[in-house]
Amino acid sequence: MNQSDLQIDASGKLKHFLTIEGLSVDTLEALLADAQDIYDKRQHIKPTSTPCQGQTIANLFFETSTRTRTSFELAAKRLGATVLNLMPSDLSIKKGESLADTLRTLEAMGCNGYVVRHSDNYALENLAEIAAPTTHLINAGAGTRAHPTQALLDVMTIRQSKPNLAEQKIVIVGDVLHSRVANSLITLLQKLGVGELHLVGPDHLLPEVRHQSGIHYSNNLVKSLPEADIIITLRIQFERMKSATMPNKTDYFKQYGLTKHKLEIANPNAIVMHPGPMNRNVEIADDVADGPQSVILQQIQNGVAMRMAILKKLLT
Ligand code: NCD
Repeated sequence: MNQSDLQIDASGKLKHFLTIEGLSVDTLEALLADAQDIYDKRQHIKPTSTPCQGQTIANLFFETSTRTRTSFELAAKRLGATVLNLMPSDLSIKKGESLADTLRTLEAMGCNGYVVRHSDNYALENLAEIAAPTTHLINAGAGTRAHPTQALLDVMTIRQSKPNLAEQKIVIVGDVLHSRVANSLITLLQKLGVGELHLVGPDHLLPEVRHQSGIHYSNNLVKSLPEADIIITLRIQFERMKSATMPNKTDYFKQYGLTKHKLEIANPNAIVMHPGPMNRNVEIADDVADGPQSVILQQIQNGVAMRMAILKKLLT
């Protein structure tokens, strides 16, 4: 089944939220608009209605998470849903139960929303094939392939400072190869029409195929920074690498770490982003992460509003 068939039901309604690829620009723009509206009304902090009352949402995180899991929990609670936080170490998967049987078990108890993070690139698509008609699956990070809710909250954050995407030069620097954040974000930026998109990093951390149209690839951050409006730093995904390819942290910081000095090369009003968790003074210097051009905490705030918009769209 293709991505769009998996995500949209026969009546055209969004059923699962799995990847950016399978969604139309109209659906993506509607989610961005709704999240901004929630944010403007401060409903992500102090909700005024509970549209998901009576719904039960399970958080199933097979990889660690601070902001994504917490923001999904807060989003669900602020919409009035009941939330189950299921730790893999407590689940019968440890006894050999399959993920599919875990889903069927929770469905039998009336759970209808599932926020899933898994190391398998296709874990969610596999679940979508066997899910009950009343089940809604949301991708909270799948392998190195997709992290679509992060992509949306990143674009929401960009637009709050730089409303016209088509005029922006965006530099994404770091471990692009292993980054599901970069994968989904690149797809979303290209769908919505970005000005210039530059992917920067050491050779072995850039995508193997480098001829996607509209994308510039470089090993030189300093040369890529002039006139940049948005700089997105990525975590080195040490857990997804073989030891032979792991960069030396000090050398990496020298070449690719975003310091104050390097930031001065970009546009004076450039914004700096990082999806978190940050390795300070490896990918980004302390004074840049905490400096006036950083919108990293704004990304986190927007995460709650964006996840409220997505849950509302699927579950009401
Ligand atoms: C990212 C993830 O887990 O994919 N974090 C996040 O969700 N905000 C990025 C990372 O782990 O580097």
